[in-house]
Amino acid sequence: ATDSDRLIQRPLPPELLMRGDDPFSPPPGLDRLHERAAVSPVELLNGARIWMVTGFAESRAVLTDERFSADTHRHPNAMQLTPNQVVEQRAAAAAGRGGCPATEQQRTDGLFIFMDPPEQTRLRRLLVGQFTVRRMRALEARVREITVEHIEAMRAAGPRADLVSAFALPLPSLVICELLGVAYEDRAEFQERSAVAVNLDASDEERLHAQAGLYEFMRGLVADKRTHPADDLISGLVHGDADPALTDEELVDLSTMLLGAGHETTANMLALGTYALLEHPEQLAALRADPGLIDTAVEELLRYLSVIHTGPVRVAVEDLVLGDVTIPAGDTVMISLPEANRDTGQWPDPAELDLTRVRNHHLAFGHGVHQCLGQQLARVELRIGLAELLARLPGLRLDASPADIGLRTGMIIYGVHSLPVTWD
Ligand code: HEM
Repeated sequence: ATDSDRLIQRPLPPELLMRGDDPFSPPPGLDRLHERAAVSPVELLNGARIWMVTGFAESRAVLTDERFSADTHRHPNAMQLTPNQVVEQRAAAAAGRGGCPATEQQRTDGLFIFMDPPEQTRLRRLLVGQFTVRRMRALEARVREITVEHIEAMRAAGPRADLVSAFALPLPSLVICELLGVAYEDRAEFQERSAVAVNLDASDEERLHAQAGLYEFMRGLVADKRTHPADDLISGLVHGDADPALTDEELVDLSTMLLGAGHETTANMLALGTYALLEHPEQLAALRADPGLIDTAVEELLRYLSVIHTGPVRVAVEDLVLGDVTIPAGDTVMISLPEANRDTGQWPDPAELDLTRVRNHHLAFGHGVHQCLGQQLARVELRIGLAELLARLPGLRLDASPADIGLRTGMIIYGVHSLPVTWD
């Protein structure tokens, strides 16, 4: 691993990470844990000990039990899992302003993904109120336009492209621009900074610089919406009926969290989802023959792939029993979505990709009070994105050998670094 890899990698032992011989399935090491027990102790490379939850029922239990806290920043054991990217951005920004990163790191004003009720409830409710049916409809139309523009640009420059940089990364980033109300003339800057902020080929310095720039960008955006409200999510929050009113810090954090939660997740589902379809020609042919399968296809890809492959993570706030083990207060539990989503007690033949599966209640978007707030938007992007790719790029196929496709094995969000494709 390079230095920049280390910044955003989980210190999991290699046998518990996704790997190249089957890029879509959990590694045998995780399967073995799951065969033995639904909850297992695991030692990380840095010596920290955590509990790995591989069972479906046990994962749901963790996500609905208030004795498990999402406020992992207060717990040293959980902190050893990863430097948190969003908090890192705040720290980088503080460093850029001459502030003190150590103090900034303690602050998570609007990052309710790391809060517990009732604090989390207040902020989440305000955000949910902005995901109105009307706004989602308007966004859906824009998702289609952005998708078509990008695929047509690929065709014009084709017949080969890197699907990640040409399509999968820009689509969700532009959708978040729409949602937040980033002005057209500022989108290139926003996209450039978001792309560098998550680019592993960039140096640490370049990445931190881009992250600090993104934070400043969000501050500017919030200030602008205070004086020039428009029909977008930030304006809605600024001028809504929040009581007490949201602070600038909270607004910047909420916006940054939407980008952090909605960009790489959706991008990797688009790219890895396409890769999985290309590597399952019968399933791909079935979807091409019946585009009406797209809804169940997207749910099945979400179940089958689990781009969040090492988490969600929680901390036990008191001693408790989970599965057959007693978890002491202060211990960290990591849910393994790839295992939970392939639990044989929940699905027949879970290792098969079957785009016609129904009653597919997977955990790809989590469960309980933190269940993904952007899931409807993510589904819209995946349905439209994948359907248009197949419709507009006949004969779409890999333009590299699978062995040469770089996997985001140790990263927080799993997927592919790039996906060279070609078409007829
Ligand atoms: C939370 C997955 C797309 C916004 C979550 C959680 C998961 C998840 C598993 C729960 C985390 C936890 O319990 O700790 C995904 C996947 C996506 C996706 C797989 C794409 C395929 C999006 C998008 C947005 C978004 C597009 C917004 C534009 C959020 C937010 C939360 C969240 C705000 C925190 C909710 C809370 O803490 O109450 N997501 N997500 N996500 N997601 Fe997503």
